[in-house]
Amino acid sequence: MNIRLAPSILAADFAALGRDIEAATRGGADQIHVDVMDGHFVPNITIGQPVVRALRKVTALPLDVHLMISDPDRYLEAFVDAGANMVSVHVEVLPHLHRTLGQIRKLGAKAGVVLNPSTPVVTLEEVAGELDFVLVMSVNPGFGGQVFIPNSLAKIRAVRGLLDRAGNTRAPIEVDGGIDLTTVAAVVEAGAEWLVAGQAIFGGGHAQAEAAARALKDAALAAAEGAAR
Ligand code: DX5
Ligand code: ZN
Repeated sequence: MNIRLAPSILAADFAALGRDIEAATRGGADQIHVDVMDGHFVPNITIGQPVVRALRKVTALPLDVHLMISDPDRYLEAFVDAGANMVSVHVEVLPHLHRTLGQIRKLGAKAGVVLNPSTPVVTLEEVAGELDFVLVMSVNPGFGGQVFIPNSLAKIRAVRGLLDRAGNTRAPIEVDGGIDLTTVAAVVEAGAEWLVAGQAIFGGGHAQAEAAARALKDAALAAAEGAAR
């Protein structure tokens, strides 16, 4: 397993993102998760490509941009141009998912598909070989700090099975929502390798962020080691 910690800046201090990202990086962050919300696909508005562009200047880590927007096709180029290294799009809004994934890859970013908790795994069946990663939502998207939905564990296993059957054994599964010290081991054991966490890293404020990131990463690595045995 290739565990990567992806702190979600949604729970960081928006007036001090650079400082908070530095703290998480010292604690072992591997990529920075950026939650883009449009107030339409999800009931919340967050940030757009100007912030991605600003973050690009303050961190060398890959920027993992999660698009919770109704019309992602319209903005793919703008986000990759701003510095996104991974772009994930929701299957629920994309009738031409195959084309969208091809577009993201053509722009030079890693292409991921996101499944809401109520979206069945079978929606990935026809594109399972074309994906760079799959993001399994373990809460309903829109807000940080929500409670992990237990059924997400079975979903992670099912997605892993689908990707493996499609021969895409290297595409990792990312999990997003309610990941903390009480849930991280179970999601890793189920097969998740990229771990998004907002509240668990930044919820205790700047002074705690480095230690919180390190604790979560250590717990994930220990679970991965256990799973490999
Ligand atoms: C939710 C976002 C998540 C969120 C996770 O819509 O996609 O990335 O920031 O937050 P926590 O880790 O606090 O559940
Ligand atoms: Zn997210």
